[in-house]
Order: sequence, then C-alpha cells, then structure tokens
Amino acid sequence: MYHILSCEQFSRAELEELFNLTDEIRNNLPAYRTALAGKLVATIFYEPSTRTRLSFEAAVQRLGGCIVSTENAKEMSSVIKGESLPDTIRVIAGYCDAIILRHPDVNSAREAAAVSAVPIINGGSGSGEHPTQALLDVYTIHKHKGAIDGLTVGIMGDLLFGRTVHSLVKLLALYENITVYGLSHDVLSLPEEYVSYLEKRGGRYIPCRSFWEMPQDIDVLYHTRTQTERFQNSDLQVEEFVVDRQVMSYFSPDTILLHPLPRRHEISAEVDADKRALYFQQSHNGMYVRMGLLYNILGKGAEK
Ligand code: NCD
Repeated sequence: MYHILSCEQFSRAELEELFNLTDEIRNNLPAYRTALAGKLVATIFYEPSTRTRLSFEAAVQRLGGCIVSTENAKEMSSVIKGESLPDTIRVIAGYCDAIILRHPDVNSAREAAAVSAVPIINGGSGSGEHPTQALLDVYTIHKHKGAIDGLTVGIMGDLLFGRTVHSLVKLLALYENITVYGLSHDVLSLPEEYVSYLEKRGGRYIPCRSFWEMPQDIDVLYHTRTQTERFQNSDLQVEEFVVDRQVMSYFSPDTILLHPLPRRHEISAEVDADKRALYFQQSHNGMYVRMGLLYNILGKGAEK
C-alpha cells in the first residue's frame, strides 16, 4: 500500500517516473478511461478546498473510478458528535479503496495512515505539508524549465503557515545546486526546519526583504496567500508583497510566476495576461498529476 503523507517520502527517480506517467496519461486519455474501474475513493475535507478536492474528484472520474465525499467534514460528519479522526478513518476505510484527507492538524495524515486499511493521500495537513500540490508545482516547473538542477526559486508570501511552500522546499531539496530566495514579512518567515532540510541536502536559502533583493534572472517566482485563518492573533497586520506589472518588469522574460491559488491581492489581475504568469496552467496540470498518482496507487501502476 502506498500512502502519500509528506514530500520526504519521494526520490528523484520517483518524481521523474510520475511526471512521465502524467504526460503519458495526459496524451492518451481514452486509453485510461477505465483504469480505476470498480475503485471507490473517499474525499474527506475538514478545511475548505476548490482545486485539491475537485481536481482529485475529476481525476478519479476521468480514470473511471467513483467518489464518496464530505466536503465539510468538520460540520457534516460525526466529528460534530465528538468522533475522533482515527475512528472516522477506520470506518471510511471499510467503505472505499483510498482516502484523500484534508485536515487542520499537522499530524493528521500520519495519524490517519496509522489506522487506515487503505491508502491515505494527504490533501493538506494544517500548516504542515501539502505534498500533492508540490508534485504539481515541480511538474509545472519541470515542464517549463526542462530541468530542475541549478534553478533559482523565489518563494514569497506566507512562508510560516503556507504548507505548499513547505512541501515545495522539500521536493526542491532533491535536486542539485538549488537556491531558494524567501520573501516574507518577518513574522511569516520560513521555519528553520525547512531551511535546514534544504541546506543539509546541498541547497542554499537566502531570506530577502524586497523583490529587488532577488536576482532579476531568477527562474521561478512562487507566491502564496497570507494564511490569516491560522493566525493566533486575528488583529495581526502583515505587509503584503504585491506582484504587479511593475514588479514583473524587473524580472527576466524567462522568469515564470506560480501560485497554488487561491490568490487574493498578492498578484494583481493585470499580471494574468503576462505570458510568464502560469498559475492557471499550474492548477490545470494538477488534475493530470493527480491522475498519475491515483493510477500508481490504485490502478495498474499499483501492481508493479
Ligand atoms: C492551498 C492550500 O490549501 O494550502 N491551496 C491549494 O490547495 N491549491 C493554498 C492556500 O489555501 O492558500
């Protein structure tokens, strides 16, 4: 059985294989229409989601599988009656072949995997990780840059609570000669554990205070939303680093701009028409990468 819990579990070779499989499925969709026939996948989301849940559900159905879902598990499942996550997972695992889980606790995916009779896919564990998002992020970078070794990547916004950047840093650490620039408000800087994870594997981390401290020819800019819902102090005001046309004019024609979405005002709508703004392609890619993952976990790929 193959759980997806954290980006720490992947090797470079596995990523390469997944990206090739993703392209193979994407280019031959009719051949995969029944790849998950007879499989039932549960999506159990205790936090809001648009892309992760719907792209997973689209991926399952495009591969011929079926879905059972609770999109608001916090209020619409037995949690409201006091049921624990392990009990909920034990029960749902008896109904289906895999569970995609989003939950506010950092350890939720591991806790679920410890009791589940079927694979658990972490669809976001609090302010911890969001591994499938990072897979689609690196797939998108790979598609546009050809190779990941040697890249310079600027991560921006909420680096403290942003689980997508945590997972992204862990995947980038698999590659050679990676430099990550971090642009955030002081109180939202990248936790030391991710900095040292990268550095231990040969990468460099350079904190910045403005866009202008990042190299103009940086390869990738990856912006994120301030995760205000995770603030202890709801009055805390943080400076936003807004990417607008003027900021984009500082960077090279080859710099690509990504965002896991949803964005608020940290990327102005005027940037959407810029050819370097790839966030909508990125979210579209997510469905195909998730098809690849599901095929590996539940389809023919699981028999290897
Ligand atoms: C992100 C998440 O849920 O962590 N969204 C997503 O899955 N694409 C980012 C966010 O909510 O800001």
